[in-house]
Amino acid sequence: MSITFHQNNQIVHIQNTSISYVMEVTDGKYLVHRYFGPSIRKYRGTGIPQYFKRGYNTEHECSEEHVSFDDFPFEYPVRGHGDYRIPALSVMQESGTEFTEPVFKSWKVLDGKPEIKGLPSTFAADSRGETLEIMCEDEAAGIRIYLYYSVFEDRGIIARHQKVENIGMQTVKLQNVQSMSLELPAENYDFLSLYGTHAKEGNRERFSLHHGVQRIESVRGSSSPQHQPFFALISEQTTEHSGAVYGFHLVYSGNFLAQAEKDQFGNVRAQIGMHPDTFCWELKPGDIFETPEAVLNFSPDGLNGMSRNFHWLYQNHLMPSRFKDKVRPVLLNSWESMYCDVSLEKIEEQSELARQTGVELFVLDDGWFRKENNTRTSMGDWKCNENKLPGGIRRAAEIIHGKGMQFGLWFEPEAVSEDSEVLQKHPEWALQIPGYQMVKGRHEYLFDLSRKEVREYLISMLDSYLRNGDIDYIKWDMNRPLTDVNSLVLDKDRKGEISHRYVLGLYEILDTITKAYPKILIEGCSSGGARFDPGMLYYVPQNWTSDNTDAFDRTQIQSGYSLLYPQIAMGAHVSITPNHQTGRTTSLKTRYQVARLYNLGYELDLTKCSEEEREEIACQIAEHKLEREWIQKGTMCRHEVPNENYVMWSVVSEDKEECAAIIFQKFHNPIFSHGRFKMCSLNPDFDYMDQDSQVIYGGDELMQIGITVPIIKEDFYVFSFRFTKVDEKNGNKADCE
Ligand code: DGJ
Repeated sequence: MSITFHQNNQIVHIQNTSISYVMEVTDGKYLVHRYFGPSIRKYRGTGIPQYFKRGYNTEHECSEEHVSFDDFPFEYPVRGHGDYRIPALSVMQESGTEFTEPVFKSWKVLDGKPEIKGLPSTFAADSRGETLEIMCEDEAAGIRIYLYYSVFEDRGIIARHQKVENIGMQTVKLQNVQSMSLELPAENYDFLSLYGTHAKEGNRERFSLHHGVQRIESVRGSSSPQHQPFFALISEQTTEHSGAVYGFHLVYSGNFLAQAEKDQFGNVRAQIGMHPDTFCWELKPGDIFETPEAVLNFSPDGLNGMSRNFHWLYQNHLMPSRFKDKVRPVLLNSWESMYCDVSLEKIEEQSELARQTGVELFVLDDGWFRKENNTRTSMGDWKCNENKLPGGIRRAAEIIHGKGMQFGLWFEPEAVSEDSEVLQKHPEWALQIPGYQMVKGRHEYLFDLSRKEVREYLISMLDSYLRNGDIDYIKWDMNRPLTDVNSLVLDKDRKGEISHRYVLGLYEILDTITKAYPKILIEGCSSGGARFDPGMLYYVPQNWTSDNTDAFDRTQIQSGYSLLYPQIAMGAHVSITPNHQTGRTTSLKTRYQVARLYNLGYELDLTKCSEEEREEIACQIAEHKLEREWIQKGTMCRHEVPNENYVMWSVVSEDKEECAAIIFQKFHNPIFSHGRFKMCSLNPDFDYMDQDSQVIYGGDELMQIGITVPIIKEDFYVFSFRFTKVDEKNGNKADCE
């Protein structure tokens, strides 16, 4: 890992064994992009395209030639001087002029990685990281922009963000400041993203990038299930296992814009950052603004290669370190078994059976504070309804702890009901636009988190529940998009800041709570996976993946999110059938197998399960406890399968001695072919025993030839495998050769 300057310091080369990232300063002022891709030993200026003045176009003196800026590879582009593509920066000066042109001034290397004030970001654990800081300046506007590039150990990752400083005398408005802009060579790319909706998150979409701008975004106030703040530009040949991938992910939980433009000459520019349509930030003299962080991920090894980089980064350099290797408890969540109709009797009964089946954490979901058994009332006051729970949360926690389990509690701190005492007393605390009716979402309004007194209220409310040690786990929910995005306290020049200030307010609350209660495990949730993003992952080490617990749908949802998130971060629950969201019936075995490689939980009424089902659940939990330690840290792989009737995943332990795999058969198909399912990430030199059949295979055989599966006349059937490295002793015993 190194950052080196060459040729009289006009070129900088950021490098590790996986990647190189090269920039050059031309004419002493233009910062241009030269290369991002597989690592090269030394950059000598090869392959620079020849730029020239395009017909009937702008002309600029550059490198003794006249060039047009229409296809010039600016590292951090602006609009207004001849580059007509998507700009990364836009500043409105006091005069009303929307122009700025920061030119290169200096660069230097920082040890490790600086924090971004008030925002989540990846960190260089054990100082294993280096950061390049580049300073550009627009003297006329009095603006300095600092570009940051951090490189980690040997993975194909660069983390970027920018800092803008007003060093002049005028107040300016930042209208657009992207977290990264990247020039890619004129080649054909596919654009890959994840779209979705509530209960159907993480769907892949892949199409060929065409001329013009292609974008995905969120203007819903949070990152949203509609689009994950991620996209990748991949070669047309890229598969799960091979091909070049450039992935981009934003470490942020609010509105975002992610876009790629293929210009008229075929060059490609990629950007990701805060959404300029919902952002305008006033920068007074002396003020500084910092953007969220963008993660740039290059892998030559297909989509699994990209996933391995993201998983490694998020587990080791983003989620709270104290939880990165901490085995996750098997939980029972009350939502699908009680909904809002919670009672102490139900808790007592269900938790007793939970204890008997080996559950370690009982999570009391929504309903405990509601006046009625629905979601229409009582949000925001957070007073336990003692008619439902005599003795309050203390008593519920006591019951659970008495059974040797941990106790978790659901909150939705950001929301407030119309009938709440807090809103009656402080109507000004909600997001609202004077003169207009406030819009409800799932029967509730949202607190204005940009207000200090609101943040203080929420922190002290949470503190009142957490300080006596009753709660080991929080499910932190948020169930609606933002509307009425206006704060009564911000003056008119700052109205464009509210969306971002809401997110900053949320982060401040999370930061305060997680610092005060570092041992409490928090699960992020937003109607399932609506705010499953790297920004949240910085504070909460796991997220509820989707409200859809149907095993069939989960194969798609978990496959989608596994592109980005490590399995330890993704909640996967076994629920009852017919499934509450889809009406589909699948076997208990199938439901468990689909959840098994992730963060396992149950969300069903154990009192309504038969004795046999409870025994089966107890066996599943016992099995999971034996393998979860290495599964939660292992290498996950999505496999190429013979046809679309199958979904296959595997996890291989860090030492490659263990492998768990599942093959999900969607439907029984009489046109059954003897397709092969190949393993991945094994050690080709090891021998592995299939724990069911006791047959031994070489790692190379399993990866090159693969396995076949028998014909099973059942829809939604799962073939499951456990391969364990054969040690000398049992290898000799069982080896059939
Ligand atoms: C939405 C979540 O995704 C569910 O799991 C549950 O917690 C409900 N909210 C409770 O209102």
